Amino acid sequence: MSALFSPFKLKSVILKNRIAVPPMCQYSATDGLANDWHLGHYASLGRGGAGLVIVEATGVAPEGRISPACLGLWNDDQAAGLAQVAAAIKAGGAVPGIQIGHAGRKASANVPWEGDDHIPESDPRAWETISPSPVAFGANLPRVPREMTLADIERVKADFVAAARRAREAGFEWLELHFAHGYLAQSFFSPHANKRTDAYGGDFAGRGRFLLETLSAVREVWPENLPLTARFGVIEYDGSDEETLAESIELIRQFRARGLDFVNVSVNFSTPDANVPWGPAFLSPVAARVKREAKLPVASSWNIDTPALAEHTVATGQLDVVMIGRVHLANPYWTHEAAHALHVDRPDWVLPAPYAHWLERYKRNA
Ligand SMILES: Cc1cc2nc3c(=O)[nH]c(=O)nc-3n(C[C@H](O)[C@H](O)[C@H](O)COP(=O)(O)O)c2cc1C
Repeated sequence: MSALFSPFKLKSVILKNRIAVPPMCQYSATDGLANDWHLGHYASLGRGGAGLVIVEATGVAPEGRISPACLGLWNDDQAAGLAQVAAAIKAGGAVPGIQIGHAGRKASANVPWEGDDHIPESDPRAWETISPSPVAFGANLPRVPREMTLADIERVKADFVAAARRAREAGFEWLELHFAHGYLAQSFFSPHANKRTDAYGGDFAGRGRFLLETLSAVREVWPENLPLTARFGVIEYDGSDEETLAESIELIRQFRARGLDFVNVSVNFSTPDANVPWGPAFLSPVAARVKREAKLPVASSWNIDTPALAEHTVATGQLDVVMIGRVHLANPYWTHEAAHALHVDRPDWVLPAPYAHWLERYKRNA
């Protein structure tokens, strides 16, 4: 019996296995609209066998996109395009999920293959960036953001709510709030980025306020029977790791009390000076601690790229769901291969019938 290929139920949603495709920006949109690239890409991932496919970071507001080529969900045309993407994922047999977020001080950047750095302010494609405090990230993202006013804070919370409503109307069944990776929400919680002296900064309660209020507001519009999840960076690898982790776990407990169902555990990425210990499944023990202490089911990604390692993280109880990212770019059918590698005897669970039927017959005849 494979733990990885056992189903996972959360609220009224059942994933057919514990493999998920995490959000991965395609940097291929114009005006935030999904196009033929997104449709083909997500359709192939949807039929590739993973139980869950989460659409890439999608901006809740124009200035919340990482790059000019990121998806958005601040208008109805964008929702109509994403409805086709959600339907394509579901037709392939996976649960359609989406990550909504605001890039904060890391916004207004060139796409990775054109530099991954801030677009110069003199360039007409650039826009003003906002953050809790006028503190730049640094390194390739040196632009000093404008400090958000209280009106900005209210507006961005409302943008999250409107995007969540549109995501539901577009047919997504799993919502992931982007509270990670040094983007806006993570910046509110990180002392590296948040130097405010008002109610949205300072101590633990102040730095957590934006995230908790955003979550509560979204919970009101996101259906109770569907998973409301967040990706949250719980560790920075900046030398203050025990303190950051303990604070983060306490905040996740408060998320749970406000209706969060699941957490995708990740890294903060709020300073370029972190010393991340990249290695196979390096974050899984951290995620396991979050699961134990915050009492929520967890997922994690980062360098889990063999079927045996993915199986191990679930079988040992570290992760409830394994996020498998880059290998899915190389092979959208990775899950199918993993099923064979782990001797799962019913691969028709994995691929949809129009593929599975013929592949099984082909194998028997070979
Ligand atoms: C091309 C690319 C785009 C990404 N975009 C996002 C994103 O939109 N949101 C997010 O939370 N993480 C994003 N990530 C991080 C992935 O979700 C994942 O955590 C990372 O690739 C590590 O997992 P892996 O080792 O299985 O690839 C991205 C990663 C890649 C390679």
